[in-house]
Formats: sequence, structure tokens, C-alpha cells
Amino acid sequence: MTDKIKVLIPEDVVTRRIKELADQISKDYEGRQVHLICILKGSIVFSCDLAKRFTVPVTFDFMSVSSYGNETVSSGRVRILKDLDESIQGKDVLIVEDIIDSGNTLSYLYDLLSSRSPNSLNICTLLDKPDRRETDVKVKYVGFEIPDEFVVGYGLDYNQFYRNLPYVGVIES
Ligand code: IMP
Ligand code: MG
Repeated sequence: MTDKIKVLIPEDVVTRRIKELADQISKDYEGRQVHLICILKGSIVFSCDLAKRFTVPVTFDFMSVSSYGNETVSSGRVRILKDLDESIQGKDVLIVEDIIDSGNTLSYLYDLLSSRSPNSLNICTLLDKPDRRETDVKVKYVGFEIPDEFVVGYGLDYNQFYRNLPYVGVIES
């Protein structure tokens, strides 16, 4: 993979914003514990960098989902590839996602997890493409709103590559 990648959000800007988000979340959850749910694989990089800066206690769990996307007539259907290891009942759950595009994945996950009786349930995403929204999602924490462009880096991939880039970029054609 040797595509030319144009930087959209430089590393220092991402780092600064993640610190702000972590400060805000730590403040909002003061006196409680955050049960962070990392949505594999895209949100691994963001989840780690965010959680490193929490001043509240944090536990992790992981979930892997695959969206049927455009392959089916009725979008919004999501397949669970790996479910959580632990129960979330009574916990203060924070879903961490890399990007919200159509919103179909997150709205499905939000409904699924709220049916499992957490004490609270919120969503934090690094990136948001509001122009692409098909399903409304209640997102509490957003790193950056971005235009409708396909981005890579900071956990986001193109054919599984570029997740390790320390910045968010766009592949130049
Ligand atoms: P949604 O259900 O349409 O909101 O899909 C969200 C998922 O699509 C994300 O978790 C990503 O895995 C993927 N995705 C959406 N936009 C991009 C992008 O610009 N780059 C890489 N992956 C993306
Ligand atoms: Mg993803």
C-alpha cells in the first residue's frame, strides 16, 4: 500500500482534541467508573489514547461488528462478530467509535446495549460525517466533524491498511 495521503487532521491537533475530550469525560464521570467499549477494529487507537488520559477508573471490553452496508436492501442491519465478554448491567458504559457515517451501526448497537440494563450509556466518536447520516444517533462526545470524504489513519483503514497513521488523512487519487 503506497497511496499518496493528504493530511486532513494533523497529529498534534488530534492529540490536543483527545486530551480535551478525556478531560470532559473525566469531569462528567467524576465519582463513577467508566466501562469503555471499544468497537473493533477501527476504534482501538482512539480508545487507548483517550483512556490513557482519563482521571476516573476505567475498565475495557471489546465488540466487533460488521455492517451489511450497501449489500442488502434494508441497511441498518448489523452482524455481531464478537460480543462483549462481560455483562454491562448497572455499569456506566461509554461506547467508543472511530467514525459515524450513516449512523446505522451505532444506532443498532446503542439499542442493543441499552436493552442490557446499563446504569448509563453514552457514545464517543473521534470523527463524525453529519452529511452522511441516515439514522439518527445520540452522540455525546465528538472529536471532529468532517466533510463527506473517505478518511484513513488513527484506526481507520482502507482495505485494512493505514490504521497506524498518527494523523487523519485522505487518499489522493
Ligand atoms: P455507519 O454504520 O455507516 O455509521 O458506519 C460506520 C463504519 O463505517 C465505521 O465504524 C467505519 O468502520 C466505516 N467507515 C465509515 N466511513 C469511513 C471512512 O471515511 N474511512 C474508513 N472507514 C469508514
Ligand atoms: Mg468501525
